Formats: sequence, C-alpha cells, structure tokens
Amino acid sequence: MEVRLQEAKDSIRDVIDFPKKGIVFKDITTMLKDAKHLETLVDTLYNQYKDKGITKVVGLESRGFILGTVLAYRLGVGFVPVRKPGKLPSPTYSEKYSLEYGEDEIFIHQDALDSDDVVLLHDDLLATGGTAKASIDLLNRFNLKNVFVNFLIELDFLKGRDKLATQYEVDSVFHF
Ligand code: PRP
Ligand code: ADE
Repeated sequence: MEVRLQEAKDSIRDVIDFPKKGIVFKDITTMLKDAKHLETLVDTLYNQYKDKGITKVVGLESRGFILGTVLAYRLGVGFVPVRKPGKLPSPTYSEKYSLEYGEDEIFIHQDALDSDDVVLLHDDLLATGGTAKASIDLLNRFNLKNVFVNFLIELDFLKGRDKLATQYEVDSVFHF
C-alpha cells in the first residue's frame, strides 16, 4: 500500500467496547479531521471510479454521507441518500435487515434513480454485511445499468463480503 494511504489507515482509532462490550469500534473521525488524509482518500476513490461511467453516488446513512457526497461532487454526478426509518418524505422502497439484536430497515426514494444510472454505492464500513446487502437489494429495484460497491473499511474476519453474494464489483480501501 502507498505510504500516504498507510498513514491514513494508521490514523483510524480503535475504541474498545464501543458501543457495547466486545466491539472494537473503528473510529474514522481521527482520519477525517486531517486534511492530507481526506485528500488522499478522495483522490484514491476518484482515480478508482472516474472511468467507470458512474452517474450517481448512493451513500448510506450516516457515515456513508461524509465521503459519498464529496466523491459525487468530485465525479461531477449527483448524490442519493439511503436513509433510516422516518426520514424520507416522498414514496420510498425499503428493505429490512438483521442486526446483532433485532431488525432495522433502510429506505430510498422511488424517484432517486432510473434504469440509465450506473451507481457507486458507498459506505464507511463493511462489518457483517447486513446493511450493505439490504442496500444492494434496494438498488436492484431500479434495474440499473451497473453498480460498483465501495467501503472505506472492511472487517475481513466478519466475512460480510460473503453475505453480499452480488455480481457487482466490491472494493474496500482498508482491510482489517
Ligand atoms: C455502521 C456502518 C455501516 C454498518 C455496517 O453504521 O457505518 O453502515 O454499521 O454494519 P453491518 O455490515 O454489520 O451491517 P451504523 O448503523 O453504526 O450507523 P452510522 O453510520 O449512522 O454511525
Ligand atoms: N459498524 C459495525 N461494526 C463497526 C465497527 N467495528 N466499527 C465501526 N463501525 C462499525
């Protein structure tokens, strides 16, 4: 890995037992607050996706909004939020998914995308894959031309990638 990317990776803070005992939380705020790391991340993602014909970036609430919108701006395309319950005002599609305890649901506006779109789906982190799987299922409602799936961080040991079971290209900047 390039030195500047390794430095960005090293700046991610591990917070033990957050938000509950047994979880090692990957805190990206220590990376994002540094202008040079932010520039490295945006440049890296821009170079990776600039020639893929992306027409929209879809970001997952809430940490997926941070680089998702910057990347959309840099790629010169629009940004579409996938949101948690009770947030989107117009007609939506939704998908339920399992968390460690119970269920949650995510939503997207029905008029957010159409079949001409090539989407870059972005989130900060892939853990068990429940959120990302539900997001891909949401995107599949639109008969999109193509989808690229991107995470800043992938927790390899949780094998979330296996749960995605998607034909789309999936890539993560950092692996732990
Ligand atoms: C985190 C993270 C991903 C999701 C990954 O979001 O940002 O969206 O968990 O977990 P999974 O792969 O096991 O589904 P969180 O629900 O903590 O929300 P936040 O982005 O609003 O902090
Ligand atoms: N989301 C799910 N698992 C996480 C972790 N270990 N660190 C940060 N965000 C997460």
